[in-house]
Amino acid sequence: MKRLIIALSVTFATSSIALADTPGMADFQRLCKTCHGDGSADTVMGKKLKIRPYKGRAELDKARILKALTNGVAPADGRGEMKKLDEKKLDASQRDAVADYVLSLTK
Ligand code: HEC
Repeated sequence: MKRLIIALSVTFATSSIALADTPGMADFQRLCKTCHGDGSADTVMGKKLKIRPYKGRAELDKARILKALTNGVAPADGRGEMKKLDEKKLDASQRDAVADYVLSLTK
């Protein structure tokens, strides 16, 4: 059993390295994709919460993206809310990488 657990953790470690080719992408897929999909928000949650696609949202600069992670998002226009990111899930440099990745999806 112990050997199986070790084998599994090695597999997970290598697969997250493979996904991390684009910085921030693996964490985005792990923590954001359920709602934001590939950025288009074409997901069950995205529709339910009326999430806008990132693409073309020029007002989403890096500071605003980081603020969304730190404070959460509470739109005043009837869209769903996003809880702030649990700081234990991503440290400052990981949050920075995720923000850069989101920024790349707005283009
Ligand atoms: C439970 C669903 C959910 C998850 C998970 C989620 N979001 Fe959101 N997100 C929302 C909703 C709802 C909004 C507000 C609707 C909108 O702005 O279109 C939003 C808005 C945003 C915005 C726009 C903020 C603004 O100022 O307009 C950014 C950037 C964002 N999310 C990034 C992320 C990132 C990065 C992650 C992962 C770490 C994430 N979200 C995870 C639901 C989610």
